[in-house]
Amino acid sequence: MTQRRMLTGDTPTGQLHLGHWVGSVRRRVELQSQAECFVLIANMHAFTTRSEKPDEIRRDTLQIVRDYLAMGLDPEKTAIFLQTEVPAISELTYLFAMLLPYNRVMRNPTLKDEIKVKNLGDNYSFGFPLYAVGQTADILAFRAHAVPVGEDQIPHIELTREVARRFNQLYCGVDPKTEDADHAAAGGVFPIPEADVGKVARLPGTDGVNKMSKSLGNAIFLTDELKQIKKKLGKLYTGRQSPDEPGDIENALFQYVRTFISDADRVAELERRYAAGDDIGDGHIKIEVAQAIDALIAPMRERRAAWDDRDDDLIDILREGSRRANALAEETLAMAKEAAGLGFWKRSLSLD
Ligand code: TRP
Repeated sequence: MTQRRMLTGDTPTGQLHLGHWVGSVRRRVELQSQAECFVLIANMHAFTTRSEKPDEIRRDTLQIVRDYLAMGLDPEKTAIFLQTEVPAISELTYLFAMLLPYNRVMRNPTLKDEIKVKNLGDNYSFGFPLYAVGQTADILAFRAHAVPVGEDQIPHIELTREVARRFNQLYCGVDPKTEDADHAAAGGVFPIPEADVGKVARLPGTDGVNKMSKSLGNAIFLTDELKQIKKKLGKLYTGRQSPDEPGDIENALFQYVRTFISDADRVAELERRYAAGDDIGDGHIKIEVAQAIDALIAPMRERRAAWDDRDDDLIDILREGSRRANALAEETLAMAKEAAGLGFWKRSLSLD
């Protein structure tokens, strides 16, 4: 039995926020001592909607590395790498694109959603839907077993599972009736990967309505100080009028309470008093939540600041991570080419 391997990643769109932490990064930090871990920065995917802004993408790429290190990813344990420096990913993308019906890709609800939210209409590039195929290659190039992600990424993982099954059936003689868990044992190149969704898959933003997202302006960042956190939470709308009014403990504020206040007795007490309207104001709870968030991110803020103005060191980390990523991805590509009748000779690329 090979060791469990996990792969996940983020598109560089700016600083990471608390939504990333609870949805995915927290889980990665937990996993890094239990599995072989790869974290990819999807800087090529960033070009799908921002190809005219390469400087921003480069800056955001390095910001993500800072956030990862601040949140506790350890580059000794986790290979943090650049999508654009692993050529096997692009090669597999092309091959996998042949295994997926065009209409199947376009039916992906996450793609459809993005087209709507970003107002792309039908003016998106050819590369935009291709990124969904690319994401299957990101994962399969590492023959990953687990993919820690937020809920919105599940359709991409489902597509990845379909590609893996199809490849194993077409080119490795795996019987279509084989259980997902048995694909590798049955001779398939690719294990069928599973999404590993964090405990709080969807953290509401500080507007109390939408998912936390930088572009919606409702995010709390690692660089926010207590004062800013309080101010942001102050805007969270609950609709409740007074401390004596029974409140809904399923609202966004209480999702924050349960996510960030670690004392279970205190959480239970707040829930009980809120539900009963027992003299507990939203403002009071918000301050308690803000303090809990601050206690969580203050050490992250400090670690992050230590990487300011050190782009070269960050690039060294990416370089070492990409070196490790390439060693594995090249091996996978060779296996896949062999299976698909493309293994004419053994090539060696020097990737350093
Ligand atoms: N699509 C993901 C996002 O925008 C980023 C991503 C790219 C990814 N490749 C991946 C996530 C592979 C998990 C696995 O957040």
